[in-house]
Amino acid sequence: MSSLLHIEVSPGGEHSVSRSISAEFLTAWSAKHADGKVISRDLAANPIPHLDGEAIFAGYTPEDQRSSTMVAKHTFRHELIAEITGVDEILISTPMWNWAIPSVLKAYIDQIILPGTLDGSGADGLKGKKVTFVVSQGGSYAEGAPRHGWDYETGYLKQFATALGATDVEVILAELTLAGIVPAMESLIPQKEASIAAAKSAAKARAAA
Ligand SMILES: Cc1cc2nc3c(=O)[nH]c(=O)nc-3n(C[C@H](O)[C@H](O)[C@H](O)COP(=O)(O)O)c2cc1C
Repeated sequence: MSSLLHIEVSPGGEHSVSRSISAEFLTAWSAKHADGKVISRDLAANPIPHLDGEAIFAGYTPEDQRSSTMVAKHTFRHELIAEITGVDEILISTPMWNWAIPSVLKAYIDQIILPGTLDGSGADGLKGKKVTFVVSQGGSYAEGAPRHGWDYETGYLKQFATALGATDVEVILAELTLAGIVPAMESLIPQKEASIAAAKSAAKARAAA
């Protein structure tokens, strides 16, 4: 039985572009894996805490000297790690916020990268897993765009997955999503619609591959 961890980030609910694209992925994935298991984690509805001192230093404190809150926070990190390393596929769907990932997603990543257990120094925790990122951006950071080079999101997400051992990593991008919302971008509406349609097709194809 195949398994998929699906992480949502956008607080946009039914208006969310990234969620509408990941929904296409999920429909296609469920059609392919009739008995597949999907684990959903909605970081907008249920944000996980940022790392604090107790969570960080629990790992460096001998077990018999950890406080009860240290134990709870350390255990939580191991539970998150077990969840992501226990599935075959990972789908993370997120908007761009201020040229990068929203902080709820960064908090998740900071929780699961734990030196010695799941880390970026040769660990292979995500080895063999198919990792898909759905990213929606209000503008465009493509070559030739005025803000080309300002995208600190897609490269980072790829780095996160590959550093943890994944080799089958794809970013599905919808851009210019603020066209029609921001008046100055009115003329870009056709490009926005084409970009979202292409992202939905890519998501379906990726899920079915
Ligand atoms: C707080 C905030 C910050 C944003 N920052 C950026 C940004 O830096 N660059 C960009 O292209 N779009 C930015 N946007 C626009 C979103 O990336 C865009 O609307 C995206 O499609 C939202 O995805 P969603 O509908 O799934 O939430 C921002 C939106 C919000 C709410």
